[in-house]
Amino acid sequence: MQRLTVEGIRQEAQLREMLREPAQSLRRGGLVAFPTETVYGLGANALVEEAVRRIFEAKERPRDNPLIVHIAQDDQLRDVIDESQPLHEDAVRLMRAFWPGPLTLLLPAGARLAPSVHPGQPLVGVRMPDHPVARALIAEAGVPVAAPSANRSGRPSPTTADDVEADLGGQVDWLIDGGPCPIGVESTVLLLEPDCARILRPGGVTQEMIASVIDRPVLYAADAFDVSSAPLAPGMKYRHYAPNASVHVWWGAPEAIDEAMRAFLLEAVQDDEVDEVMVPALIAPDDFVRRFGWALSDERQAALPADAYAEELAHHLYRLLRAFDRAGATDVLVHGVDPTHGVGAAVMNRLYKASAGRVRWVG
Ligand code: TXA
Ligand code: MG
Repeated sequence: MQRLTVEGIRQEAQLREMLREPAQSLRRGGLVAFPTETVYGLGANALVEEAVRRIFEAKERPRDNPLIVHIAQDDQLRDVIDESQPLHEDAVRLMRAFWPGPLTLLLPAGARLAPSVHPGQPLVGVRMPDHPVARALIAEAGVPVAAPSANRSGRPSPTTADDVEADLGGQVDWLIDGGPCPIGVESTVLLLEPDCARILRPGGVTQEMIASVIDRPVLYAADAFDVSSAPLAPGMKYRHYAPNASVHVWWGAPEAIDEAMRAFLLEAVQDDEVDEVMVPALIAPDDFVRRFGWALSDERQAALPADAYAEELAHHLYRLLRAFDRAGATDVLVHGVDPTHGVGAAVMNRLYKASAGRVRWVG
């Protein structure tokens, strides 16, 4: 694997020059991991079946889980979607409003795509990432790029180049280090149905944002906040975003959250049946940590700025879950966020999946 650092460089011409070799590798069938505004992606030429298959092998990803295709310019849509069908007018509105950005639209797949990109699905997920490194790499490669998150299947998505190297170091040809990803959770996946738009995976573009651009109702898929419902996005049915430690989430009034977390810890200490010692870790707003005097060891406690807690949690969640695993945590206690507001929906959706549904609403 060759690792190339381009962190801090934003100028397109300079980036394209620096990315010439990895872009060529990508075009010719190589695997290139690269940063996007959401998480790091594991990229392959979406038009070459052999290249796309390598993604599934590297990640140990189930074959029936379709990939998102990334483009740098509108005209690349030609290579990706079925042009004999008119583009849905709401799709056009959404592209204009949110591309480049963290919105994946499911559109009729074109015949040129490698079949493994959308196994058994007539639709393909497409997005234009809003990250200078991703855009320059795709533009320089000159081909659409199929890219799932660059983690081993089932692990938390990578938000730094080191996370990618830890999971997939031996499997990729190039790793482009563009620094930490600004958003930290994956894109919104949206399906346009006849009477509504359905969010299959909440992400950086929120329900309110989508509803402000199109007239039809914007609904969540049934499994977004409920582990018992069957998912519509194949990828959401697998154990997901999960560290080795167990994740537990509480949301509600601060006093009630504090009380519930302490009761949980006490119960574990008193439980004679359990012979393993619990090693807890905590993620909570800084004012909560101060107010209730939480003092776990530094490597197992994250006090995030309270004034933008949802955004901070999105930005740091996956990195913290990985760091707590390295610190030997057995149980991660998380102060949740309001899922009806902004990026809170994406964060709580990932916490539902990571905790296998252990989310409690208290007082
Ligand atoms: O932010 C992101 O979307 C990142 C970056 C790298 O762009 N990519 C990403 O890809 O998260 P991945 O493969 O980890 O997640 C894609 C999700 C999966 O849940 C998959 O099942 C769903 O999107 N998906 C993709 N194509 C689909 C399709 N044709 N129909 C239904 N769901 C689809
Ligand atoms: Mg993923």
